[in-house]
Amino acid sequence: MLGNFTYCNPTRLYFGKDAMQGLEKELPKYGKNVLLVYGGGSIKKNGIYAQVKAALEKYGKNVFEDAGVMPNPTVEKLYEGVERARAAKADLILAVGGGSVCDYAKAVSVSVHCDEDPWEKYYIRFEEPTCEIVPVACVLTMVGTGSEMNGGSVITNHAQKLKIGHVFGTEVYPKFSVLNPEFTFTLPKYQMVAGFYDIMSHILEQYFSGTDDNTSDYIMEGLLRSLIHSASVAVEDPKNYEARSNIMWTATWALNTLVAMGKDTDWEVHMLGQAVGAHTDATHGMTLAAVSMAYYRYIMPYGLAKFRRYAVSVWGVDPAGKTDEAVAAEGLERMEAWMRSLGLVMNLTDLGVKEDMIDGLVKSTLVMEGGYKVLTPEEIAQIFRASL
Ligand code: NZQ
Ligand code: ZN
Repeated sequence: MLGNFTYCNPTRLYFGKDAMQGLEKELPKYGKNVLLVYGGGSIKKNGIYAQVKAALEKYGKNVFEDAGVMPNPTVEKLYEGVERARAAKADLILAVGGGSVCDYAKAVSVSVHCDEDPWEKYYIRFEEPTCEIVPVACVLTMVGTGSEMNGGSVITNHAQKLKIGHVFGTEVYPKFSVLNPEFTFTLPKYQMVAGFYDIMSHILEQYFSGTDDNTSDYIMEGLLRSLIHSASVAVEDPKNYEARSNIMWTATWALNTLVAMGKDTDWEVHMLGQAVGAHTDATHGMTLAAVSMAYYRYIMPYGLAKFRRYAVSVWGVDPAGKTDEAVAAEGLERMEAWMRSLGLVMNLTDLGVKEDMIDGLVKSTLVMEGGYKVLTPEEIAQIFRASL
């Protein structure tokens, strides 16, 4: 049965080949000072930077740049960004990039007018903003995180070996996001497929939870089927607009909070993956891929009915004459084969994890309570070991 909820998603999306027209529609609504946030320079090579700059100039904005946001943005970079945004007296923070750039922009937005240490306040104590929030907008260039239409903001603290996400309320969501699937065509294959698996993982984190009959589960099965099909097309033909546009839209729905309404969710794969990220700085989607099969095989007996349903509804397993366990296991086998066909990293060794790092990884893993099994530290260690 659906639980009670309040739902609002305030992000305005501009989607498609003409999506940049949306930026022009929106810019006049904001003040003069724009902090333009981006990553390591891919947007300069593929021409997106030039398009954004032209729009900002057309509307007479004072542009202040904050470049060099790294994948898995760090707390040190956040402190730097807050200083830049203060110096710029930013009226709008425009993030042009992937989830890292967008997450970082949100973290800056809630810290500019706040005297407290943002790491302590938002990522350790999980407090809500109590200060004025600078509006954030996003031009998305990498598909996967859903950051373009949610309040998620993940920051890494290497000194503390912690990678932590704060899910902010709707006041921190991007005011608008520009989604042009063609902007993602220049992604290297490694990043592209990591993003595909991030989407898959977001859906599964919300699907593998609860035993009730729930509309969201049917929606998620549809999203998963679309993703599995389109990802297989895109990996062979990366410039296939049909596939890439479907994937971009699926990514947004996977984590714009709609499918989580009124139901339990898990998120333990992300906690395992984020621990790996904190210790290795590996690509987010690959950290998830490397731990997923061991995790799902471990929890399958605790959520058998749902794993059986997943096998039949998503992977087309024929259940006739088979035990529930056999059907569920066949679904996971098909999932693993699909993951391998995309070229995902399927073990932690390939991400630089060694056996003697496991105790540290366990300490860095938050334990969630919404899935089919609340893991003990020993079980977490066992899953990491099985993922090596
Ligand atoms: O920095 P540049 O030079 O731009 O290169 C980036 C970066 O190296 C490159 N890239 C992006 N768009 C490109 C491109 N290269 C060529 N052409 C393009 N069009 O891709 C690399 C990865 O970018 P990044 O933004 O790090 O990837 P992603 O979107 O996967 O974001 C990962 C971050 O988001 C967090 C992750 O933990 C990680 O820190 N997450 C955020 C979530 C949220 N907001 O809700 C949820 C997710 O589960 C995730 O945890
Ligand atoms: Zn993710």
